[in-house]
Amino acid sequence: MMQLWSRVVTATLMLTVVPAAHGQSAATPGATWDRRYDGQMYVYGKEPVDFLRQMLPELHVGRALVLAAGEGRNAVYLARQGFDVTAVDVSAKGLQKCLALAATQGVTVHTIVADLDTFDLGTERWDVITEFYYHDPALFERAMRGLKPGGHFILQHFSLDQLTTNRFGPRNPAWLVAPNQLPRAFNAWRIRHYEDTIVELDEGMHQGPAAVVRLLVEKTPVE
Ligand SMILES: C[S@@+](CC[C@H](N)C(=O)[O-])C[C@H]1O[C@@H](n2cnc3c(N)ncnc32)[C@H](O)[C@@H]1O
Repeated sequence: MMQLWSRVVTATLMLTVVPAAHGQSAATPGATWDRRYDGQMYVYGKEPVDFLRQMLPELHVGRALVLAAGEGRNAVYLARQGFDVTAVDVSAKGLQKCLALAATQGVTVHTIVADLDTFDLGTERWDVITEFYYHDPALFERAMRGLKPGGHFILQHFSLDQLTTNRFGPRNPAWLVAPNQLPRAFNAWRIRHYEDTIVELDEGMHQGPAAVVRLLVEKTPVE
């Protein structure tokens, strides 16, 4: 599969290959998300996920990789906290809005339009990797490899309970987290925080109770 990415989202994208990106069925990578992000409104708002804000004191300021960054609310937040942020997403439109948000807040975010199925996270390159509302267990090992020793992987996703909690979020169980799936997947590493809970969301189009899992893993091996 040809990997398509660009350092600047304004670059012309020759999207001739058609992998079905996570959560979409369109023929062109990113097309569904580009459509969703088309318009002035920030679909999930401009404020970061609360859990990221809460865990900030645990993170080492340095290089942050924001996976599936969307319109950039979490990437811009981290840049405001002094991180050197790279935001990756399959949607060029989303990342354009990320750059616009960064500009209004006086910070810089590097953007890469890429399909996370094939994106190279590198080895021991990042102090923090975030993954919010993009559940792909195939990324877990790559993310842990990409972290520097002692670095942190932080995520929040909808859990399977969301199917009976509220009407928003993915309906495909493959994109929802099963009970204990994350503690099992990360049992070789130090889990600093894990919750499987219902929270009240105030995130753009996501308003009201939501069933989520929240995880902060440190890249420190455990016996
Ligand atoms: C539910 S949104 C979450 C956006 C952002 N993390 C947030 O919390 O605001 C999911 C994001 O995943 C991106 N995405 C979907 N499939 C992808 C893929 N295969 N590679 C990269 N990004 C993808 C979409 O473009 C979208 O921005």
